[in-house]
Amino acid sequence: MKIPAPAEIRALHEKYAPTSQAFADVHTHCEIVWGVAERLLASPRLAHLDAGLVRAGCLLHDIGVYRLIDAEGRLDYPNYVRHGVLGHELLEQEGFPEPLRRFCSHHTGVGLTKDDVISRNLPVPPADYLAETPEERLVMYADKFHTKSRPSVFLTPDEYAEHLRRFGEDKVTAFQALRAEFGDPGLPATVPTG
Ligand SMILES: [Fe+2]
Repeated sequence: MKIPAPAEIRALHEKYAPTSQAFADVHTHCEIVWGVAERLLASPRLAHLDAGLVRAGCLLHDIGVYRLIDAEGRLDYPNYVRHGVLGHELLEQEGFPEPLRRFCSHHTGVGLTKDDVISRNLPVPPADYLAETPEERLVMYADKFHTKSRPSVFLTPDEYAEHLRRFGEDKVTAFQALRAEFGDPGLPATVPTG
């Protein structure tokens, strides 16, 4: 499988971003998530992961967010959970293979199940959207430490675990399993903005 280079992925972001602010928010977030994943990949126990695939996955995972931002830059917040499947669709139209498309549709929360979709009445087709490969799990995990809200901030593992609690103890348990698998990234409390 040919893995797209960062410049190719950046061009794709530019193609689909409805505004320059949307590009700045989403593409920067994707780069920061790659930065988090790269830190985690420095651990020798993760040497078996395909770093090039993780990088492409991080840089692509939120590309579907553009489909939820209008020309005025307004985000369709009630449908935000759809950004994964929309990214999957977008990459399919662009001719990207399934292993890359899955980084979009399989990074939400700590893994969205068919039960979650039905019980929470989420606007996505009822199915399991669980990260399966270690590369998919790492992209999903690294994504949890950075929020695109302005000013963008890094979350500590404990802060994210606390945020998850309202979705159920099983989600906290799933996050703790990811923590055990990949470790804590040890990030600064905030990222410089501006
Ligand atoms: Fe993300």
